[in-house]
Amino acid sequence: MTSTPNLRQNFPPNLKFIETPRPVIDETREVLTSLAQSPPRLSPKYFYDSRGSELFEGITELPEYYLTRAEAEIFDRHLDDIAKALGEGDIIIEPGSGNCSKVQPLLERAMPRAFVPIDIAGDFLLEAAANTAMAHPDLAVTAIAADFTQNWAFTENIPQGRRIVFYPGSTLGNFDPAAQRDFIGQLAKVVGTQGGILLGVDLHKDSAVLQRAYDDASGITAEFNRNMLAVVNARTGSNFEPNNWQHQARYNSKMRRIEMELVAQSAQSVTIGTQTLTFAPGAVIRTEHSHKFTLDNIEDLATAGGMVVTHHWLDSQSQFCLALMQTA
Ligand code: SAH
Ligand code: AVI
Repeated sequence: MTSTPNLRQNFPPNLKFIETPRPVIDETREVLTSLAQSPPRLSPKYFYDSRGSELFEGITELPEYYLTRAEAEIFDRHLDDIAKALGEGDIIIEPGSGNCSKVQPLLERAMPRAFVPIDIAGDFLLEAAANTAMAHPDLAVTAIAADFTQNWAFTENIPQGRRIVFYPGSTLGNFDPAAQRDFIGQLAKVVGTQGGILLGVDLHKDSAVLQRAYDDASGITAEFNRNMLAVVNARTGSNFEPNNWQHQARYNSKMRRIEMELVAQSAQSVTIGTQTLTFAPGAVIRTEHSHKFTLDNIEDLATAGGMVVTHHWLDSQSQFCLALMQTA
């Protein structure tokens, strides 16, 4: 992302930045609870500090990571139809907005009144939101730094009007299926009966293609994976040594998900809060599930939100799907 010099001095007048307080103690407890599971897990939300967000940006440009290009192609091919189907969606809300690049075609074509990016990586969000506000001086941008897995009390800051949640990039796939349905239910509440959810998800396909996308030759995904341990250290005061862990990614075709893990290269002893955990050589921590979808799955998700899929669009190779869900 291009950096924004002197942001504090040149804060764009059409930008509001809202930071919700981060619950430090809860995160330590959350990390210990998830590491006590079998296999030990860490939530993928810990990938994202500013460095993690930049590494993810690098992933989206990798030749192996087709997802971002496929979704962009859908926008290139179908933007008129998408804008028509959205109708007068004057408030666009984007959870997990990252560098805010995916929403740009919608901002230009659907001409919303307000844009609400929400992201856990606060500094990265502020910079992305400021760039967006400066590029669109007539658009009200309300950026909210928040953890969207916690409660959605921050919705009180969202301007009034018809709401469209834009949730691209297959970020929904980082939740397990029950949590995916709950999340869609939550989004359906946020948009109400007049609004809609524009959801981008990656489709189930050949295992080799998927595996390559999550284990690239240049090692950026490996670095992204290891960076999670640095983020957990910063948030909980733990002392993981990221370089002693190796990246591993496999496609579990039965569960239709990529399973990303970190594997201890030697015995590790890690202090988190008041506890010290030991990991034998070869011990794994599961860091991410990236679920892949079928068109039937997408219909079921809409049902979970009391909605129906009114439109869907695919890229030319049917790798990725953008679906619009609305109340019937
Ligand atoms: N939408 C962008 C970025 C996807 S990466 C794209 O498609 O390219 C996932 C984004 O979700 C990151 O920017 C990350 O910081 C954010 N994110 C992950 N977990 C989150 C959480 N629990 N709460 C808020 N944001 C989260
Ligand atoms: C953000 N999310 C949708 C990415 C994915 O594809 O599951 C995160 C990622 N993990 C490894 N590479 C990309």
